[in-house]
Amino acid sequence: MNIKDYVERVNRAVEYIRNKIPEVPKIAIVLGSGLGGIAESVENPISISYKDIPGFPVSTAPGHKGELVFGKLYDKFVVLMNGRFHYYEGYSMKEVTFPIRVFQLLGVEVLIVTNAAGGTNLDFEVGVPMIITDHINLMGDNPLIGPNVDEWGPRFPDMSEAYDKDLIKLAKTVAKELGIKVYEGVYVGLAGPNLETAAEYRMLRRIGGDAVGMSTVPEVIVAKHGGLKVLGISAITDLGDPDNLKPLTAEEVLENAERAGKTMVKIISEVVRNL
Ligand code: HPA
Repeated sequence: MNIKDYVERVNRAVEYIRNKIPEVPKIAIVLGSGLGGIAESVENPISISYKDIPGFPVSTAPGHKGELVFGKLYDKFVVLMNGRFHYYEGYSMKEVTFPIRVFQLLGVEVLIVTNAAGGTNLDFEVGVPMIITDHINLMGDNPLIGPNVDEWGPRFPDMSEAYDKDLIKLAKTVAKELGIKVYEGVYVGLAGPNLETAAEYRMLRRIGGDAVGMSTVPEVIVAKHGGLKVLGISAITDLGDPDNLKPLTAEEVLENAERAGKTMVKIISEVVRNL
């Protein structure tokens, strides 16, 4: 991949989108599995399909939406990313994070990322959201590898506060006010697509992970590189107990993601309202 071509593609996508929206969103929300519900709360939505945006990667996964939805959520103009690109689908890290660069250059200042994740902290209960306090990148790749685009961010971006402390505090406060139980913890990103072995779950717990998944980390790295503030929330869909590991079905993951998703929608809506 040539970085000049990539920059040019991002700029073309930004230009196209700018001409379709009435104002610049300050908040972008990446919808993970089971989180599609938020899209229905957006007023006067303007949906733009990925395939219509020049330069934008195109989703291949069947049943996955591939659109940006612009509109008002609690009087705040936001953009929702409905359908993300996963590394395990074969996209490069640069493609996975393309939409985040587009958000940055549009003028987005806050990124809210959601995902479905397996709990490695065995005190967790499935169907409960976890506010991400930090992450560990075990994906074996990084979206910032290669020539640095200095206008986009620094060569060696600081990650001392990858997940914004004030946003974490706000999310916890609104969850408490809503009477919603949430956990806090460290998200470990793996490439996937296979789920973890018992030995891997054991290791992930030992290194300080509370949850594990196959997304989010690259998007957060690029968002931080670009100077955005980040809030991340995981839906805990299953528990990886190394001493009692049972086969996990995709249905189980989706069902629990939707359950957690219902409460995550409420938390995110309140966070947006208070931003
Ligand atoms: N591991 C990785 N990704 C996941 C899991 C898991 O256990 N559950 C949901 N997504």
